[in-house]
Amino acid sequence: MKTFKIAVLPGDGIGPEIVKQAVKVMDAVSEKFNVKLEYNYGLIGGAAIDECGIPFPEETKEIILSSDAVLLGAVGGPKWDNLDFSIRPERALLGMRKLLNAFANLRPAKLYDELIDASTLRPEVVRGVDIMVVRELTSGIYFGIPRGIFEDDGEKVGINTLRYREHEVERIARVAFEVARKRNKKVTSVDKANVLEATVLWREVIEEVHKEYEDVELNHMYVDNAAMQIIRWPKQFDVIVTTNIFGDILSDACAMLTGSLGMLPSASIGGKIGLYEPIHGSAPDIAGQNIANPIATINSIGMMFTYSFDMPEVEKAIDEAVKGVLAKGYRTKDICSEGTKLVSTEEMGDLIAEEIKKL
Ligand code: NAD
Ligand code: IPM
Ligand code: MN
Repeated sequence: MKTFKIAVLPGDGIGPEIVKQAVKVMDAVSEKFNVKLEYNYGLIGGAAIDECGIPFPEETKEIILSSDAVLLGAVGGPKWDNLDFSIRPERALLGMRKLLNAFANLRPAKLYDELIDASTLRPEVVRGVDIMVVRELTSGIYFGIPRGIFEDDGEKVGINTLRYREHEVERIARVAFEVARKRNKKVTSVDKANVLEATVLWREVIEEVHKEYEDVELNHMYVDNAAMQIIRWPKQFDVIVTTNIFGDILSDACAMLTGSLGMLPSASIGGKIGLYEPIHGSAPDIAGQNIANPIATINSIGMMFTYSFDMPEVEKAIDEAVKGVLAKGYRTKDICSEGTKLVSTEEMGDLIAEEIKKL
């Protein structure tokens, strides 16, 4: 029997609530597909700070590095917002992405037809939306140096640096074109090349790599226009490739095309061990209430089976199960509309796990 070791890092806020539902789904998958899944739980973020004083303990690093894939809930929350910047919960997430060399973050925004009324946009605008955001994840302004808050001429100055090396752009470009080849063969590269030199280089390298992928259509868009176009007519996009920070922002916007931030899964790949997490955060405003939407996390498990375990049939099954549950009218609060049945986080997890077993 195939065996996979999964590092499970629930984290903070709604993290533990949604990860619990993803584990139910993994249990169902294990039974249905006859694979053995071994879970190794680790502390990260605020939960780790509370326990060990730091957000990313050595023990967690060891758990991660001895796993085949990592599942993360979310990190952060108001309780830890005033800590020294170097030990904030979010630093753990950035450290983990770097440790895993997870430079390519795939964030699919696909609308389930059943959720057409959950979006705040008109049905004809969102029907059929299927965008893959390919976000560069281990470089750019998130990691560039110099960074920090310094004294300068009698006042403080805050500095971050947007920095890309050629090879960093080249490898994310390749991922985007490869992904596009398996989809609708269109890549939109989003930059700010009218103002920022780092993205002038970005655009040049994207053009260069494109020469190897002439079967894929390429266009460039400035980020401000892209933000507007995503809301105006999202169906013009197939694959969006962009920098770390632009991808962070645009993927939250894309999430709302699908009804809720709670719908968008992600895969962070590039290294030996893949990292899988919903794109949303720890949602402190709804934590502990059993109302969070676990579907983003559950669908991240689907991506794990495709990208880390080469079992795309599992992703298909999870997707089908989610669709089945939505078709029966079950909704968590964030996607609930008239005529549908409101369920809790736990109930949604149970329903999807049961649906998988019934497939
Ligand atoms: P957030 O994504 O946590 O929440 C934004 C809004 O979306 C909130 O109103 C929240 O209730 C809602 N929401 C998010 N996920 C949901 C879900 N699954 N179901 C229903 N509603 C959901 O962003 P924020 O409020 O800006 O940040 C809160 C904390 O999370 C911060 O500490 C931030 O740094 C952290 N964060 C962590 C990650 C991560 O771990 N990957 C990602 C983003 C933010
Ligand atoms: C995300 C989050 C993170 C990011 C934060 C929490 C570090 O917003 O995963 O989208 O900005 O990458
Ligand atoms: Mn984000």
